[in-house]
Amino acid sequence: MLVLGIETSCDETSAGVVDMQGPAVLSNVIASQNAVHEKFGGVVPELASRQHLGAIVPVIRQALKAAGAGLDRISGIAVTAGPGLAGSLLVGLETAKAMAYASGKPWIGVNHLEGHLFAAFLLDPAPEFPYLGLVVSGGHTSLYALDSALEHRLLASTRDDAAGEAYDKVAKICGLGYPGGPALDRAAGAHAGPAVSFPRAAMKDGSLDFSFSGLKTAVLVHVAGQRRAGLEPDMVSVAAGFQEAATEALIAKTMKAAAQEGLTRIVLGGGVAANSRLRSELPRRARERRLEVFIPPLDLCADNGAMIAYAGGLRLARGESSGWELGVDPGWRY
Ligand code: KG4
Ligand code: ZN
Repeated sequence: MLVLGIETSCDETSAGVVDMQGPAVLSNVIASQNAVHEKFGGVVPELASRQHLGAIVPVIRQALKAAGAGLDRISGIAVTAGPGLAGSLLVGLETAKAMAYASGKPWIGVNHLEGHLFAAFLLDPAPEFPYLGLVVSGGHTSLYALDSALEHRLLASTRDDAAGEAYDKVAKICGLGYPGGPALDRAAGAHAGPAVSFPRAAMKDGSLDFSFSGLKTAVLVHVAGQRRAGLEPDMVSVAAGFQEAATEALIAKTMKAAAQEGLTRIVLGGGVAANSRLRSELPRRARERRLEVFIPPLDLCADNGAMIAYAGGLRLARGESSGWELGVDPGWRY
């Protein structure tokens, strides 16, 4: 069964084709809008939806072509219905509906977070249920217990900034470039010697929830303090210090959640799962406790159509589909 997946929740226009047998990614085309948003230092929603409008048809055509499959061979269409930017989501959703209407094929609106949590199934070997899922992206930082493809429980989320949001803001404070997350990761990776030490957030109530705004403020205070003292802050060592503290917070909470829930498999997803320190440190720390870690390759961590195709494909295979009344849900919780 071949499924076409469409993703336009933020600033990537993406379409992918997944063969649910295997499963196998037959294509995964991602058109980035970085060049458009760069001069504003962040995603401008109106520009994002306009870019999606221009890119969506060519991206879908390219995804079908690269998969060597015409629309006639596609069994169903999956599309991100939320959460995300309303105008951006609309472009993907209405395109999917139009294609489904014209072709008579079933379609399904998919939760973006379910896409990130299931992307690791496109790995070989794939994880097995149950597992602990960590979604780390620009909009979310959440831990889930996934008991089966049908059952998940939210264990923790962020009380303020998402991890990716904190990366982007700190990269901006440090003047490291756009997009901030990858730029900060590169700067931190190039750093040798001691990094600036920043506090690790601890929840007073012992909760598994995350918090990144205190760390972001600590960076701001450090940089301002240096400048007041007439010193030019060493941004690379600031970046390395932030990266250490942020990834430590993610890893420590993940380890704690795995122990509390008695889960032995950890699955990572979302844009921040591309982070080099997280990719190396989390498996190292997990090995010490005999836990298995599954991290998708980079193009399946960032927003992409293939993960939506797979997550939607599971639902279509169970006989689920969406009706014409389904609209976008920018605040859709998972
Ligand atoms: O999942 P994603 O592509 O979009 C959302 O659903 O939000 O995640 C984007 C986020 C951005 O905040 C970006 O800066 C961050 O992922 N990111 C990274 C890295 N690559 C992307 N953060 C840290 N290190 C990276 N290498
Ligand atoms: Zn995402």
